[in-house]
Amino acid sequence: MINKIAVLPGDGIGPEVMFEALKVLDIISEKSNVNFSFTKSLVGSSAIDAEGHPFPDSTKKICEDSDAILFGAIGDPKYDNNPKAKIRPEDGLLEMRKFLGLYANVRPVKTYDALLEASPLKKDIISGTDFVVYRELTGGIYFGDKGISEDRKSAFDTCSYTSKEIERISHLAFKEALKRKKKITLVDKANVLDTSRLWREIVQEISNKYPDVKVSYLFVDNAAMKIITNPKDFDVILTENMFGDIITDEASVITGSLGMLPSASVGDKVSLFEPIHGSYPEAAGKGIANPMAMILSTALMLDLSFNMKKESDIIIKSVEDAIKNECVTQDINNKNFYSTQEVGNWISKRVKDQF
Ligand code: IPM
Ligand code: MN
Repeated sequence: MINKIAVLPGDGIGPEVMFEALKVLDIISEKSNVNFSFTKSLVGSSAIDAEGHPFPDSTKKICEDSDAILFGAIGDPKYDNNPKAKIRPEDGLLEMRKFLGLYANVRPVKTYDALLEASPLKKDIISGTDFVVYRELTGGIYFGDKGISEDRKSAFDTCSYTSKEIERISHLAFKEALKRKKKITLVDKANVLDTSRLWREIVQEISNKYPDVKVSYLFVDNAAMKIITNPKDFDVILTENMFGDIITDEASVITGSLGMLPSASVGDKVSLFEPIHGSYPEAAGKGIANPMAMILSTALMLDLSFNMKKESDIIIKSVEDAIKNECVTQDINNKNFYSTQEVGNWISKRVKDQF
């Protein structure tokens, strides 16, 4: 059997970190006798340049036809400072999420002992942090009605949620909590927003079906504070699209570098795996990007999409070993650092040695 993987390196540092991740997968394939086929396709700014659309039909087809998707990063500064741009790379990402029904974005946040110094937060506060954010990904203000008046004197974005959208991700999050410390925190703004009130109502209802899971509720402003003052208190955080976007970037500070965080976007048919970091255009082509988040994203893929937990754990362990052996990029140690490729090679070799 061949496992079909769509490979979308995207923009900026995306192709460089993807290259390192594919090296690791080649070794996994060789050692475990599992076949992967990789089909590359364009997305983001590079797709706009080549095909006039950030998520072109050719890429849609390849994604639909795959068992899992690996995604690098998208974004290009030439669009960021032009509020009037008609088409932007990010539209491709949003369209892809909607088109493929990737409704749950799973973002694990944990500290590595060897990296505690890399975080600007105090060691004793962050040491031992291990939580996961379940961010709803295809609803809310990202996808509601929006518009800007012709005279450009007013604009609006609507936040809306259906009970179905809330239910499906909530069940995933509760199931995950059962496998962990059995704690869920719903992050919302139920003191102000009706959508948040609906989230609370539904999560309360669903919680009856999971009596072993302890549920708590936090307003997002308070949560933003608690996540960095008491990160160890959290196990599973469940939240809507926009709040999840913001608190996961905030949470990345705990791990010391945004370059460490992988994520999975789970859909009914196919799931997508990508690092949380963006395209980091300033670093593109310089060989300084941290490939670890992309490599850890492949570990998530092996676990969630291909039932290869053993191989997934080997990758995670190899990344941890690279950190322990101080084989890291500049973002983690700006005195003694290695290139993207050197770190990728080190991890690949470590993976190989563990079979
Ligand atoms: C993310 C990104 C995207 C988002 C952008 C690029 C549209 O920030 O994946 O978190 O806001 O969801
Ligand atoms: Mn984001």
